[in-house]
Amino acid sequence: MSESEGAGAGDLLKAGAASLIVSLVLVGGFAGAGFLLGGKLPKAPPEELTLHDARAFYKAQPRYLRPLPYSETPAGLANLRAETCGPCHNEIYEEWRVSTHARAWEDDAQFQEELKKGKHTPGKDTTWICANCHTPLENQLPFLVAGLVDGKRDQPRYLKNPNHDARLQLEAVTCATCHVRDGVVLGPYGNTKAPHPVRKAPELLEASLCTQCHQAKAHLDDIALACVFDTGLEWKEGPAAQRGETCQHCHMPEVERPLMPGFPKRKTRRHWFGGSLIPKHPKFEAELKEVRKHYDDGVTLRWVELPEQVRAGQELELRFAAKNEHAGHHVPSGDPERFLLLRAEVRVGETVLASREERIGAVYEWEPVKKVSDNRLAAGEERTWSLKFAAPAEGGELKLVLVASKHRISQENFDYHHLEGRYVAGREYLREERALPLR
Ligand code: HEC
Ligand code: HEC
Ligand code: HEC
Ligand code: HEC
Ligand code: HEC
Repeated sequence: MSESEGAGAGDLLKAGAASLIVSLVLVGGFAGAGFLLGGKLPKAPPEELTLHDARAFYKAQPRYLRPLPYSETPAGLANLRAETCGPCHNEIYEEWRVSTHARAWEDDAQFQEELKKGKHTPGKDTTWICANCHTPLENQLPFLVAGLVDGKRDQPRYLKNPNHDARLQLEAVTCATCHVRDGVVLGPYGNTKAPHPVRKAPELLEASLCTQCHQAKAHLDDIALACVFDTGLEWKEGPAAQRGETCQHCHMPEVERPLMPGFPKRKTRRHWFGGSLIPKHPKFEAELKEVRKHYDDGVTLRWVELPEQVRAGQELELRFAAKNEHAGHHVPSGDPERFLLLRAEVRVGETVLASREERIGAVYEWEPVKKVSDNRLAAGEERTWSLKFAAPAEGGELKLVLVASKHRISQENFDYHHLEGRYVAGREYLREERALPLR
């Protein structure tokens, strides 16, 4: 495996490939994860920086370069943590708790490996950028950025955050990300008798709530980082948006229930945010099994116009088709490392007569950033392939097999980061076997 393959970062923000090997050796305790997790400041700031400087700096940045603004704790609540909402909104809390949103920080071993890359020169650091979507509240950051040395985005000037809440940081994309602004809880109704202030927030029902993180495209050439998340645009230009189906429509299925035991039933939405439903850690497999019952996989796989039977010795062409039937955007979407493997196979007994495997995904080069190829399936798109072979001379039956799997990360990069036992590369989601009589 080449160095640049190993460096394939797991995200829209791809770290410069060549620096990886060096950084793994030299990163020490300097920049990177230890620091973001609340370690020591990497370098004494040259001058006294204030909270005011940090907020002024962030104000001038695009969304992906700044956290969500600081909010006071709403009156009646002890703090902003999900664990505080949990005892009252127990069902919603239990759903969110198993979602990838809740696993977007320490539970994501690949993410933590990417953070560790840090930068090879002391003080060089782009990890502050990652935190803005994975731990999006200002109160979740142990250090804030109050400026850049010589305007360089890999030389942030840090300030210790006086409002940092370490427990809240661990909750990653937590309730308050979507629900708390200016000390008020935002909700879809706005007229409930809650023990905390509420405000009706129509913005909760819009795709833009999600695309602030799920649509991010930028090339930061100065620091060799590239954002290539296009889920929002794929959705906007696809049939689901035409039908008026937002991200929430598919990812937060509707259900009637009380917001809290003892309260009236209302129209609510599930908070699992199910997507690929590949667990972030092998130990999360059991809880996701339940969640999968409520979600479709995006791409279906089937044989096309299969004959009832075939003649022995006949030359055959069997066709199979994949269709992005259920997603409102390309599949795979989001992280550019994602791909599907679709396999069709014809066997007699254990002998394989014909087989074909298709990889569905994009391929990138990272230095400089270039999309090499992209055969992902757009929403609603169908593609067919065929298998050609001669049926055996004797009767009996052919066995036809279809297998589909989805992957977050290639096996090479999985091995490179030593993720065995603490991350899951992918999962098989469809396996179908059927017999075709030979006459
Ligand atoms: C603009 C917001 C944003 C920023 C900034 C960001 N991420 Fe992400 N990240 C996301 C979203 C959204 C996803 C989920 C997309 C998906 O699962 O395909 C994600 C997923 C990931 C994943 C899991 C990929 C997978 O296939 O499951 C990793 C690893 C990751 N990010 C690393 C990073 C690193 C490292 C940085 C900083 C260099 C970073 N992210 C910065 C929004 C962001
Ligand atoms: C002590 C219990 C309790 C706690 C703690 C609590 N809530 Fe509530 N919340 C309620 C009750 C009760 C309602 C109203 C229920 C009803 O009338 O159906 C409510 C309503 C809501 C609504 C709907 C508001 C509307 O009118 O649209 C949202 C959203 C909400 N809570 C989110 C949160 C979040 C986020 C947290 C944690 C930061 C939280 N709640 C903490 C009890 C609580
Ligand atoms: C503050 C940023 C942010 C917001 C807002 C946000 N997400 Fe995410 N989302 C993420 C990150 C980061 C991840 C991936 C975490 C990881 O893999 O480590 C993610 C993961 C997901 C996944 C799971 C992908 C997978 O296969 O595991 C889905 C689905 C998803 N988000 C849907 C939504 C929807 C729908 C909304 C709006 C209601 C939304 N997100 C709002 C940041 C955000
Ligand atoms: C990524 C964004 C996001 C996160 C994180 C999130 N919610 Fe929500 N929540 C929403 C949206 C969107 C709605 C509005 C759904 C609707 O009714 O259309 C909602 C609705 C609600 C409601 C009103 C009932 C309903 O389903 O409409 C409550 C209560 C609530 N959320 C509590 C919570 C709690 C508690 C957490 C954390 C454990 C949380 N939410 C995390 C996006 C989020
Ligand atoms: C018509 C339903 C539908 C709509 C609308 C929709 N999605 Fe999805 N989404 C899906 C399905 C189904 C999957 C599972 C794909 C698969 O099999 O991995 C998915 C997967 C994802 C993933 C994981 C990426 C992957 O390849 O699995 C993310 C992230 C995501 N959606 C975010 C969003 C966001 C953000 C929006 C709104 C801009 C949105 N989705 C709109 C159905 C939908």
